[in-house]
Formats: sequence, structure tokens, C-alpha cells
Amino acid sequence: MGQLPVSLLLIFHLLILSTVQHTTAQQECASLKKVPHPVRAGYWFSHLARYSPVSNINTSLYSHLYYYSLSLDDTNFHVALPPDDQLPLLATFSTAVKAKNSSLKTLLSIATDDCQTNISNAAFSAMAANQTLRAAFINSTIELARTNAFDGLDLAWQFPSSSSDMASLGILLAEWRAHINEEAQNSSSRLLLTATVYFSNHLFDVPADNVDYPIEAISDNLDWANALCFGYHKNSDVTAFDAPLYDKSSHFSTSYSITSWLAAGIPECKLVMGVPLYGRSWFLRNKMKNEPGAPVVATGPRQKMSNQTGMIAYSEIKEILKDPNIVLLNDNQTVSAYFHSGGLWVSFDSLEVVEVKIEFALQKRLLGYFLWPISFDDSDYTLSKQASDVWLRNHDSPYYEDVNGFEQTPSPAPLPPQDHSLTPSAALSRSKQRSPTTHLSHLNLYILLFLLFYLTTI
Ligand SMILES: *[C@@H]1O[C@H](CO)[C@@H](O)[C@H](O)[C@H]1NC(C)=O
Ligand SMILES: *[C@@H]1O[C@H](CO)[C@@H](O)[C@H](O)[C@H]1NC(C)=O
Ligand SMILES: *[C@@H]1O[C@H](CO)[C@@H](O)[C@H](O)[C@H]1NC(C)=O
Ligand SMILES: *[C@@H]1O[C@H](CO)[C@@H](O)[C@H](O)[C@H]1NC(C)=O
Ligand SMILES: *[C@@H]1O[C@H](CO)[C@@H](O)[C@H](O)[C@H]1NC(C)=O
Ligand SMILES: *[C@@H]1O[C@H](CO)[C@@H](O)[C@H](O)[C@H]1NC(C)=O
Ligand SMILES: *[C@@H]1O[C@H](CO)[C@@H](O)[C@H](O)[C@H]1NC(C)=O
Ligand SMILES: *[C@@H]1O[C@H](CO)[C@@H](O)[C@H](O)[C@H]1NC(C)=O
Repeated sequence: MGQLPVSLLLIFHLLILSTVQHTTAQQECASLKKVPHPVRAGYWFSHLARYSPVSNINTSLYSHLYYYSLSLDDTNFHVALPPDDQLPLLATFSTAVKAKNSSLKTLLSIATDDCQTNISNAAFSAMAANQTLRAAFINSTIELARTNAFDGLDLAWQFPSSSSDMASLGILLAEWRAHINEEAQNSSSRLLLTATVYFSNHLFDVPADNVDYPIEAISDNLDWANALCFGYHKNSDVTAFDAPLYDKSSHFSTSYSITSWLAAGIPECKLVMGVPLYGRSWFLRNKMKNEPGAPVVATGPRQKMSNQTGMIAYSEIKEILKDPNIVLLNDNQTVSAYFHSGGLWVSFDSLEVVEVKIEFALQKRLLGYFLWPISFDDSDYTLSKQASDVWLRNHDSPYYEDVNGFEQTPSPAPLPPQDHSLTPSAALSRSKQRSPTTHLSHLNLYILLFLLFYLTTI
């Protein structure tokens, strides 16, 4: 019987400890104050301007718009100018959207092109490794942003793929930040600096096994990092949820993504969660076998918006769903939506999925979210509006605390047996200030459960 007060004392002690941990992180975040308003960002694809013109963007739904993208010129290592037909677009984008809403900020995204990944990745790698080339690159980005009235710069290097790439990235970010700060002294404003990063702080799909992002350089030099929380199963040979919030059987989930970055030590106020405005499609092997995990014969058809097979824009999904015979299905365990029609199977982020994900980002006290890309939204900007409504509704509420018990939703699940490159516990043990809180809240939960069990049995 004497064990009961001891347990209570222990719980009390642990609760205080976790509160202290949390307060420190909150103060750290509050003191950073790098951006005055939280982030409701959207990527706008310049190559899709004819389908999704600047004039159609509902600017009250975003705080930050990314112009995606420009590339790197691998002859002089300056940021590459777009093709001639897109030059006027680059020159008018910022002024056009800010004319509609002057509180909007615009950022210029410099990216490795998905279609020619190797060439561009090699160029980024070479540039980042050489001091002369870094200086030329940094100078060119600031010049171009200022000339075209952008408020910031974004590096979308997808992805640094060796530990030396990661070390170079850290140096690049530090020099970029220093130059931006210096340039700000000659200007009425300071440019923002962000980076678009892999879903986890540790790279899984590379030959080397020790490829981790330089967390300190990221935390110290970026205004924030955009985690690409999607595309988890693009090469799957069975139907799958491509961007689940939770996944009990693997680390390919958005909750794992966010937890891994926080556990690695990035402050929550520097982390922005990605939400896809596209779905993943497949052709089923057997129309009657249409559950998640069912065998497929191929990725879905090439779509107009993505110009890729298996990648379907939300606007295109909405068109298909006009057919009243198609039933929209939800998987509440993973927080995913899907449907099948004939031999076609599609998983995507529905209105409900977006709502739960934005609430998750609020609950984790992240700086914000970004939509990838807003060019894929329907003509009413339905998903952009949903995300913005949920974010603002809850963000402005002083009463928004852990009333929904989100802290107790499934934590990142163990790795699948074939992949031991990073277990969640390994991720947590690498952590700085954030991991103790996570461990402690789990411990609290176990002790409470034990106590409940104890009380009900006596
Ligand atoms: C843009 O979004 C705002 C906020 O949701 C909404 O009130 C407004 O009607 C929208 N504008 C247009 C033109 O759809
Ligand atoms: C401009 O954007 C801000 C922040 O998103 C919003 O509060 C405001 O209503 C918008 N103004 C207009 C005219 O759309
Ligand atoms: C990139 O290079 C790797 C190894 O050199 C190769 O296996 C892969 O197929 C290449 N990818 C593309 C998109 O060219
Ligand atoms: C860096 O790049 C410059 C310009 O291309 C070149 O002259 C120099 O040798 C390079 N430095 C190193 C260490 O490779
Ligand atoms: C870029 O380099 C040029 C030439 O050296 C210089 O005049 C300019 O001020 C630099 N711009 C920035 C933003 O540093
Ligand atoms: C800022 O202005 C000073 C003096 O006009 C100049 O020497 C310096 O190069 C400028 N710095 C940048 C980064 O433009
Ligand atoms: C679509 O992709 C194909 C093959 O990758 C390419 O040849 C074609 O030019 C692309 N179309 C557009 C409109 O970009
Ligand atoms: C599953 O999620 C959907 C969408 O959020 C909701 O309408 C439905 O009630 C949920 N079902 C269960 C059994 O919780």
C-alpha cells in the first residue's frame, strides 16, 4: 500500500520535469522572433502558370508564397535565369501578388529539378563545396531576389546525399545568412532564408548510412525549414497511403517526420510541415482486390498537371470524384483518404485529412505549414482555404491547449524489419533538449495506466 504515495510523488515529479523542459523550449522559440507571423505558405509552380495563373491566386489564404523554381547554372554557379518566356513572370510575380495583399511575403525557390536530379544535385554539391563558388552563388541569389522584389530565398536541394554534402550545406547556410544580414544594413528589410528538406533529419534512401542534416546550422541560420512530409511510397508495388499522418508499421509518416526533426534538436518555431495537394495512383492487378496494400500492375496514368505517371493533382481528383458511383473512403488509423474506380486506385489528402494534419501541426506548436503546390488546388482553392481556416481558427484561440489529447496519439512506430538504419529510439538518443520531454510524457502515460490498473484491482 505504501507504493501508492511513492508512485504519486514520482508522477508529480515527472510532470514538473516535463513542464520545465517545455517552458525552456517555448522561451527559446519566443526569443527567436525571426518572423512576426506564423507561416501559412504555398508553393506556386511557375511552369504551370498557364493552368494556375498568378491572377487566380486567392492571396488571403497564404502568408508566404514560394515561386518554384529556378535552377543552378552549372557553368558559372549563379542561380539560373528561367527560359525567356518565363522571365516576365519572374519579374511580375511579387508585385502582382502583393498588389492584391501587401502583407504577403514572397520567396524565390532555387531547386534541383526532379526530372534531372543527378545533374543538378552534382552542381549543387560542387557549388556548396567550394568557397569561391558559394560566394558567387550567394551574391547572385540576393541580387536576383532584390531585382524582382522578393522577400526571401529558399534552397530546395533534393537532396544532399553524402555526409560531405551535409557539411557543405551547413557552411553554405552560415555564409548565406551572414551575407543576408550584411546586405540588410543597406536595405529597408532583411531577406528571409528557408530550406526545403527531406521528411526526416536522416536520409534513408542513400547508399551511405550516416547522412544527417546539420541541425545546428539549420537552426542558427534559417528562418525556418520546410519538411517535405509526403511521397513516402511513390515506388510501392502495392497500393499505399502516400502521406499518412501515422503509420504503425514503419517510419514513413508525417508524425515520424516531425518527431524526428524535433528530436534531432530543431526548435519547433523553426519547423514547417508540408501538406501535399496531390494524390498517388496505381492500376490494380485485380479490380476486386482494392484494399490498401493490394497488388498493382503499374503506377496510375500520366496526368496533365504533374506530367508524371502516378501523381494526380487535387483538382484532377475532384473531377474524378464528381462521379456519384465512386465512394470516398477514410482510413482513420493512418489519417488518409482513398478511393477506387474500376482498376484505378488513388490515395490523397482530403478536406478531413488536411484538417487533422493542421491540428497536428498546431499541437506540435510548429511555426506553420506549407502546401505543395497550390497550383494543384481546385479553382475554389478548397484545400488552401481549409488549411488556412483550421490554422487561424485554432491559432488565435488562447484556449487551444492539449484538449484533444494529441500528445497521446500513436508515437512513431518501429522500423520495418528490413531497415535498421535508424530506429526512433536512435533518433531520440541523438536529440538535444526535446527528447527527454517525449520520453517523460510516455513514462507518465505508462505510470498513469499502471496506477489506473492498480486502483481498479484493489
Ligand atoms: C478568398 O479567401 C477568403 C478567405 O477564405 C474568402 O473570404 C474569399 O471569398 C476568397 N476570395 C475569392 C475570390 O474566392
Ligand atoms: C491579406 O492577408 C492577411 C493575412 O493573411 C489577411 O488578414 C487580410 O485579410 C488579407 N487582406 C486582403 C485584402 O485579402
Ligand atoms: C542517379 O545516379 C545513380 C547512381 O549514379 C543512378 O543509379 C540513378 O539511376 C540516377 N538517377 C537518375 C534520375 O538519373
Ligand atoms: C573553386 O572553384 C574555383 C572556380 O571554379 C576554382 O578556381 C578553384 O580551384 C576551386 N577550389 C577548389 C578548392 O576546388
Ligand atoms: C554582388 O557582387 C557585385 C560585384 O562584386 C557587387 O557589386 C554587389 O554589391 C554584390 N551584391 C551583393 C548583394 O552582395
Ligand atoms: C553595403 O553598402 C556599403 C556602402 O555603400 C558597401 O560598401 C557594401 O558593399 C554594401 N554591402 C552589400 C552586401 O551590398
Ligand atoms: C512531360 O514529360 C515528357 C517526358 O518526361 C516530356 O517529354 C514532355 O516535354 C513533358 N511535357 C511538358 C508539357 O512538360
Ligand atoms: C473516420 O474519419 C472520417 C473523416 O474524418 C469521419 O467522418 C468518420 O466518422 C471517422 N470514422 C470513425 C469510425 O471514427
